[in-house]
Amino acid sequence: MEKRDELYAGKAKSVYRTDDPQRLILHFRDDTSAFDGKKKESLARKGMVNNKFNAFIMEKLQAAGIPTHFEKLIADDECVVKNLEMIPVECVVRNVAAGGLVRRLGVEEGQALTPPTFELFLKDDAHGDPMINESLAETFGWATPEQLATMKALTFKVNDVLKQLFLDGGMLLVDYKLEFGLFDGEVMLGDEFSPDGCRLWDANTREKMDKDRFRQGLGGVIEAYEEVGRRIGITF
Ligand code: C5P
Repeated sequence: MEKRDELYAGKAKSVYRTDDPQRLILHFRDDTSAFDGKKKESLARKGMVNNKFNAFIMEKLQAAGIPTHFEKLIADDECVVKNLEMIPVECVVRNVAAGGLVRRLGVEEGQALTPPTFELFLKDDAHGDPMINESLAETFGWATPEQLATMKALTFKVNDVLKQLFLDGGMLLVDYKLEFGLFDGEVMLGDEFSPDGCRLWDANTREKMDKDRFRQGLGGVIEAYEEVGRRIGITF
């Protein structure tokens, strides 16, 4: 497979076309950003760590019957994925109250959420990724009711698989964000799953082991990502 021109550069990843119109190459950069790109830094090893982390998780999900865009690793910081038509809706599941939920509702951080919550956000940087609902998504044509139902079911199936995987490594999967797209009309998991897009706490000490370390200036960001990876069996 031949790498062609850059199709799109996001805040942490770049996407390249290939000689196969159905396949793209994702390049995980060392760039880290938070607060809608207002805080930015380059962190050594981040591209490699997140690429390998994402590959490991996507393969676990695929093995559990969740369709994903991931195909294979081709370099320390690159992988091949299917070229999805992305749905501009972010799906968030929360098992424990933190972040935006605490800010929005004033509930106590660390409170267990039973049953876990499910939220939708519009992928739209210019408007700060506003919270939406199924009615708005349908009316504005961001996703059909059938696609939304599939996305919700898959997002909860991911929770079943990953909550246990991280718990086995002594961590709580607090919350996470997923993005989906269409390939031949089928809804598939796209984007990435890494400590950039989820919250993970040590199950005993509740120490933060995810991107909140960067957001809150706690330091040891990549060391924490690598520790999470080691605990679930990834070798970097
Ligand atoms: O900020 P909030 O608490 O709503 O985020 C919920 C989860 O979704 C967190 O794990 C956060 O890292 C992730 N997220 C993300 N990208 C966004 C918004 C949220 O990865 N644009």
